[in-house]
Amino acid sequence: MKEKIENLRKNYLEDSKNVVNLKDLEELRIKYLSKSGLLSSLLTLLKDAPKEDKPLFGKELNILKAELEQNYELLKQEKEKESFLNSLTNEKIDVTLPATTFNFGSIHPLNRVIKEVEDLFVGNGFTIETGPELETDYYNFELMGLPKGHPARSMQDSFYITQNTLLRTHTSPVQARTMEKQAPNPIKIICPGKTYRRDNDDATHSHQFMQIEGLVVDKGITFSNLLYYLEQLASHIFPNVLGVRLRPSYFPFTEPSVEVDVKFLRNGEIKYIEILGAGMVSPEVLRKGGYDPKIYSGFAFGVGVERITMLKYGIDNIKNFYLNDTRFLKQFKGE
Ligand code: DAH
Repeated sequence: MKEKIENLRKNYLEDSKNVVNLKDLEELRIKYLSKSGLLSSLLTLLKDAPKEDKPLFGKELNILKAELEQNYELLKQEKEKESFLNSLTNEKIDVTLPATTFNFGSIHPLNRVIKEVEDLFVGNGFTIETGPELETDYYNFELMGLPKGHPARSMQDSFYITQNTLLRTHTSPVQARTMEKQAPNPIKIICPGKTYRRDNDDATHSHQFMQIEGLVVDKGITFSNLLYYLEQLASHIFPNVLGVRLRPSYFPFTEPSVEVDVKFLRNGEIKYIEILGAGMVSPEVLRKGGYDPKIYSGFAFGVGVERITMLKYGIDNIKNFYLNDTRFLKQFKGE
């Protein structure tokens, strides 16, 4: 037994001298100090030693165990330090390598402008409504004061799906839909959405475009309420606008109706640019919506989103909004 203890000590010391790295060290631990290692097997042998020798061998084995463990710990500290220092010298960060870049998307300019308009109106107590893009002739035209055969229908050349359904030509039918389901206590809504017309496609027209409809109905609504919101809208979207100008116009669903221009200073000259149509909701539209026009009045407006976005950002072709060319879209990043 004594001899075995001595051999183990000798072998351990020899093997420990060959330990170069942490991997060797782990092998050394497994070979000698683990549960199934050589030291444990010597300890089990103690059971079979003659009774009178047991105390002595036991003591010797304990000394050996302590010695090996201490030696192992020191070696471990030394090798860990070495490995850390090695990694400091070997693992270098090459700061000249190209960085990993991410492609972040950006909010589409049309959505950006819609959001701005929504912010203004929601801040003034309006709610946002939506309506179907596939609309019936009844809501799109009839309820908006455009019965079949009305000459103004031709202003809105349309995509009919069946005889009575079409892709909505404006967001105005949401006015009728809202009046139908809501009591005027009061109605204050805006409705952004897609609209469609069989227009000639050119730099400023597209068969699909977007509008934002606005509608306010209550007791005692007057033209000055409309003017207030038109001025708010213009200065909210165009920070350098000088004012709005109203021109008399015609829409079948408003009376009186106006065309609204924004006033700018461009190269030292005053310029007026048309941005939207508006007016006081016609008594007929109110009546068809279920309200007594003797008690209630309202105003409405409809603004082309592409139009104001083109003006705001100086975009010269409406197609840019729909081509999904990232070179165009990227310009609206992080504003
Ligand atoms: N619906 C009209 C169009 O598409 C725009 C419009 C004009 C809407 C006047 C309105 C309004 O609500 O009052 O040309």
